Amino acid sequence: MAPATETLGDHTTRQLLRLCEVAGLGPADAVRYSRTLTAALGPAAERPLDLPSPDSSFLSDDHTPVEFSLSFEPGAAPTLRVLLEPGSGAGSLARSGQVGLRTVRALARRWGFGTERLDILEDLFFPASPAGPLALWCALELRPGGVPKVKVYLNPAASGAERAAETVREALHRLGHRHAFTALPESDRILFFALDLGDWDEPRVKVYTAHDDLPATAAAGLCGMTDGPDPAEVEAFFRTASGIDSSGYGSGQGSRFDRRPVQACHAFTETASGLPGGFTLYVPVRDFAQHDGEALDRALALLRRYGIDESQLLDSLAAVTSRRLDDGVGLIAYLALAHQQGRPPRVMVYISSEAYEVRPPAFLAQPVGTRR
Ligand code: TRP
Repeated sequence: MAPATETLGDHTTRQLLRLCEVAGLGPADAVRYSRTLTAALGPAAERPLDLPSPDSSFLSDDHTPVEFSLSFEPGAAPTLRVLLEPGSGAGSLARSGQVGLRTVRALARRWGFGTERLDILEDLFFPASPAGPLALWCALELRPGGVPKVKVYLNPAASGAERAAETVREALHRLGHRHAFTALPESDRILFFALDLGDWDEPRVKVYTAHDDLPATAAAGLCGMTDGPDPAEVEAFFRTASGIDSSGYGSGQGSRFDRRPVQACHAFTETASGLPGGFTLYVPVRDFAQHDGEALDRALALLRRYGIDESQLLDSLAAVTSRRLDDGVGLIAYLALAHQQGRPPRVMVYISSEAYEVRPPAFLAQPVGTRR
């Protein structure tokens, strides 16, 4: 008898179980979380991996509807998170949105949290004929104890890219953040609108903006917090993550003309000041590096800078793949630096599942700076 084909659910479950072990979660929590992941993926989890991905999900480059990430802070175990698209393979964006809403509400019933903040936005983000590139994503922060913290990501362009800013302004307004929109930096696009749901001390509303061809010197200027990070720290993060040195050139950056934008995320908690209480900068390191070995070196340099033990990142990569790091690029999707008022800075590393494809390395034929 031929061996049963591995499914998307099998693949991501195996990765998650191993990652949970690295992150110090016990076996009971690991099993609960992997069941939650499979259930949230729905029918897509049953899909054999030798079939193409369920749809052209924007969640990851190879369209796996799952992405892992680790949030590191000095002196503590990293927090493991998993981002997923519940409506993956639902057939249309409209249906994907409906499946996504149903899935989040089922999680809410199971863990006893409210979805009011999502419910009052439903007409804004779930029109009858939504536009791309996503309907709803959900992220779970996997804490010890088996009850995750939940985050929901919505698409500001659901009613058309030209209405995205207005949609976000209205959504912030409905949530009581009447002045928050004006605190956002000038950007090329608004990409995501996110809500914390469930058991958070201070649930955030987050707005993600895209910044094409952002110079390193402009990165810190996006922040807008009152007690924000030192601009030099943000710039140093940007340079290390992107590999762009002070001359403006980096080892991998000359190779890609189709680079994804750097992203900024502004997090709002209190409504009085209208100012963000959190700022995160995301560098799509996979578009700035030739292969994952290079991306890993940058991640490790950042962890060292913040006094964070490197071993958990190394073990996490080994938990998701056995391929050589220089055989592809994109396993490490993003590097991010987060500042939240009252907390130490965090370094975040986003790890692709690569269930369907590994992007080949981008070896440069000519020295950087002479191409294009
Ligand atoms: N895949 C998309 C992108 O690369 C969306 C995405 C997935 C993303 N994970 C992310 C964006 C983490 C920012 C940070 O843009």
